[in-house]
Amino acid sequence: MIVSHRAILAVWGLFWVSVGHSAVLKPYNVTKDCYYLPQDQEWPSVSEWAQLNKSVDGRLIAGRPMAEVCRRSTFQSESCADLKKEWILANPHFQDPVSFYSPYWLNNTCSPFADADAPCDMGNLPSYAINVSSAADVAAGLRFARTKNIRLTIKNTGHDFNGRSSGQGALSLWMHNLNDISFFDYIGPTYLGRAVRMHSGVQAWDAYAAAGREGVRMVGGFCPTVGLVGGYVQGGGHGPLAPMYGMAADNTLEFEVVTADGRHLNVSATQHPDLFWALNGGGGGNYAVVLSQVTKVFPDGIVGGATLTFNKSDTPAEQEPFWDSVTAWQKHLLTLNSEPGFQAVYTVTNFSFQINFLTWPGKTKEQVNSSLAPFRAELDRRNINFTQVVSDDSGYHKHFARYTPGLPFGKYVVFMILGGRLIPRRTLENDAEGLTTAIRSITEDGRYTYNGISMNVSHARAGNEPGANAVLPAWRDAAISSNIVVEWHPEKGDTLDMLLATQKEMNDVMVPQLEMVSPNSGTYMNEGTFDLATWKDDYYGTNYDKLLEIKKKWDPDMIFYGKPNVGNEYWKRMADGRLCRA
Ligand SMILES: Cc1cc2nc3c(=O)[nH]c(=O)nc-3n(C[C@H](O)[C@H](O)[C@H](O)COP(=O)(O)OP(=O)(O)OC[C@H]3O[C@@H](n4cnc5c(N)ncnc54)[C@H](O)[C@@H]3O)c2cc1C
Ligand SMILES: *[C@@H]1O[C@H](CO)[C@@H](O)[C@H](O)[C@H]1NC(C)=O
Ligand SMILES: *[C@@H]1O[C@H](CO)[C@@H](O)[C@H](O)[C@H]1NC(C)=O
Ligand SMILES: *[C@@H]1O[C@H](CO)[C@@H](O)[C@H](O)[C@H]1NC(C)=O
Ligand SMILES: *[C@@H]1O[C@H](CO)[C@@H](O)[C@H](O)[C@H]1NC(C)=O
Ligand SMILES: *[C@@H]1O[C@H](CO)[C@@H](O)[C@H](O)[C@H]1NC(C)=O
Ligand SMILES: *[C@@H]1O[C@H](CO)[C@@H](O)[C@H](O)[C@H]1NC(C)=O
Ligand SMILES: *[C@@H]1O[C@H](CO)[C@@H](O)[C@H](O)[C@H]1NC(C)=O
Ligand SMILES: *[C@@H]1O[C@H](CO)[C@@H](O)[C@H](O)[C@H]1NC(C)=O
Ligand SMILES: *[C@@H]1O[C@H](CO)[C@@H](O)[C@H](O)[C@H]1NC(C)=O
Ligand SMILES: *[C@@H]1O[C@H](CO)[C@@H](O)[C@H](O)[C@H]1NC(C)=O
Repeated sequence: MIVSHRAILAVWGLFWVSVGHSAVLKPYNVTKDCYYLPQDQEWPSVSEWAQLNKSVDGRLIAGRPMAEVCRRSTFQSESCADLKKEWILANPHFQDPVSFYSPYWLNNTCSPFADADAPCDMGNLPSYAINVSSAADVAAGLRFARTKNIRLTIKNTGHDFNGRSSGQGALSLWMHNLNDISFFDYIGPTYLGRAVRMHSGVQAWDAYAAAGREGVRMVGGFCPTVGLVGGYVQGGGHGPLAPMYGMAADNTLEFEVVTADGRHLNVSATQHPDLFWALNGGGGGNYAVVLSQVTKVFPDGIVGGATLTFNKSDTPAEQEPFWDSVTAWQKHLLTLNSEPGFQAVYTVTNFSFQINFLTWPGKTKEQVNSSLAPFRAELDRRNINFTQVVSDDSGYHKHFARYTPGLPFGKYVVFMILGGRLIPRRTLENDAEGLTTAIRSITEDGRYTYNGISMNVSHARAGNEPGANAVLPAWRDAAISSNIVVEWHPEKGDTLDMLLATQKEMNDVMVPQLEMVSPNSGTYMNEGTFDLATWKDDYYGTNYDKLLEIKKKWDPDMIFYGKPNVGNEYWKRMADGRLCRA
């Protein structure tokens, strides 16, 4: 009965395409090629969802837009007011089963700033989430999504700039509540020493504090709320300690996963090494669902730090000395990056240069101060006033807290349009002036901010060989991971049209200026846009074909999907948001 009904639908679908008849049917083969959406007749029934819920011990949650509390029929004055205050920050979204940060994918379908009578639609929020507590929950979700032909997504914190934890009409595996952290002595063929097992929901703020109590430190991101086990490490993962120990993906020893076909496996350099290779840098949410991860940790100890700021006014006489000083900094990075452990985050706008967060394990503040002396001399020579503060702390967590106000969650604005580019060391050797010209042009009118994250994560630092994992090879030659950012402030009236125009300008006008001075480099996939035209080369480089092979082996039906993930080209997003096989 059902089969023949579907066959008829399929025929009508083709008829619709050929004669353009204005029927209610969809102009593509819903029955075979596309996922069902809630409006379809084939969408699972209430009792089928209830069965799923039973199979996961009542852990199924119906997704709702958070800003529902700001609509007239469901209005809650205090909650709505709080949500408005926090909407552009991390904490409301990472604690929600289905919300995420990317304002492009949030698409204002239920904005807390809209009128109380405005629509409040699900948009790209998953329809349901399983509050995952075990491998069995994950396997149940995978089985349900497959057999009912609906989209599956995986959400940890929702940080992903590409929106890869979103999904219209999806069943989401919500990994946030598995948050055990345990330290132990690891004994394996490639490593003997202290290690930590972190479950899927562990975030940097928590991990760093736990490590500090244990007398150890580990590689993690700058943002305290980024999850260390999801898209971060699977995309590569940089952070304050990366130039000392390598990227996050260089430090993993094992992943505990559930595969697309529901198997619960341990994956390492010796067990399923191809999957291990891909999970270390090959892109978030694309090869398996990770339940926990084992990572190396290192003895803690003194960490030096610094900030340094100088300003430019609009006076024409100040323009050239300011920009010459930016160039001088970039050249000085050649020296600093040659010393193990040196790391600096700095920001350039059209009125200031600011090293916000310099990290140098093993250094005292006097040593940090003297390493910056040649750069200060350049500023003095140009009569530039600056403010410098140097520090040292007895351990990494104290250092991190000093430079990250507002812990545990920090104060990061997470609604932004962001483009990126890895700047190779050779650019600083040969064309530091060209890089400055690009930054000057990008930041000129005051809308864009440039962030330089300077580090040396060469293979020598990471202690591994080329091809050891799926981290984009361009990272190994990079001196700076650059990102250029425009914050998007709906609370101040920024519109979606502005967002769309900025994203287009980002890709068409701004990022190309950085590309011009960094030929044959690449871009960190976790700090770019989902729709960068050159995504394959820029985000994966020479790893692409191998990753696609591994993807086809472990996920032959391509049920793990995300743009710009490897294999996403096997799917097409239709005008109504439905995913169809391409
Ligand atoms: C404010 C801010 C600061 C940042 N700072 C840094 C930084 O310092 N260093 C850095 O390297 N990056 C940084 N990032 C980028 C960050 O690495 C990415 O956003 C990353 O995708 C976040 O991973 P997540 O798991 O926390 O987020 P999510 O959005 O939940 O997930 C991201 C991707 O990973 C997948 N995924 C999540 N959990 C799992 C799992 N358990 N198993 C399999 N797949 C999973 C999802 O499906 C999705 O594809 C920052 C981002 C923001 C917004
Ligand atoms: C649609 O699906 C049917 C049934 O699986 C199949 O026979 C048909 O070839 C498909 N049509 C198109 C246009 O892909
Ligand atoms: C799943 O079951 C639990 C416990 O019975 C219930 O509280 C919850 O609302 C159910 N979820 C859905 C989506 O119906
Ligand atoms: C955003 O919403 C508009 C209007 O409903 C829709 O046309 C568009 O496709 C949506 N964009 C995304 C990325 O979902
Ligand atoms: C998810 O599960 C955890 C326990 O694993 C529980 O503490 C939490 O309240 C649940 N969250 C929701 C929204 O149901
Ligand atoms: C994975 O390894 C851990 C530690 O050795 C072990 O306790 C666990 O049972 C293994 N899990 C699977 C699924 O094999
Ligand atoms: C990294 O540092 C080493 C010296 O420790 C240096 O030879 C190499 O050029 C540096 N690489 C980058 C990309 O900065
Ligand atoms: C930094 O070094 C300069 C000399 O280059 C010295 O004058 C200054 O006092 C030092 N500052 C600190 C905080 O050590
Ligand atoms: C730099 O500081 C000195 C002394 O504080 C001050 O006189 C001078 O005006 C400042 N110069 C600029 C460009 O701000
Ligand atoms: C730069 O400007 C900021 C704010 O305008 C100010 O707080 C800071 O003191 C200035 N720094 C210097 C070195 O002049
Ligand atoms: C910097 O941008 C602001 C707008 O935010 C603008 O008013 C100012 O003139 C710009 N300054 C320079 C030196 O271009």
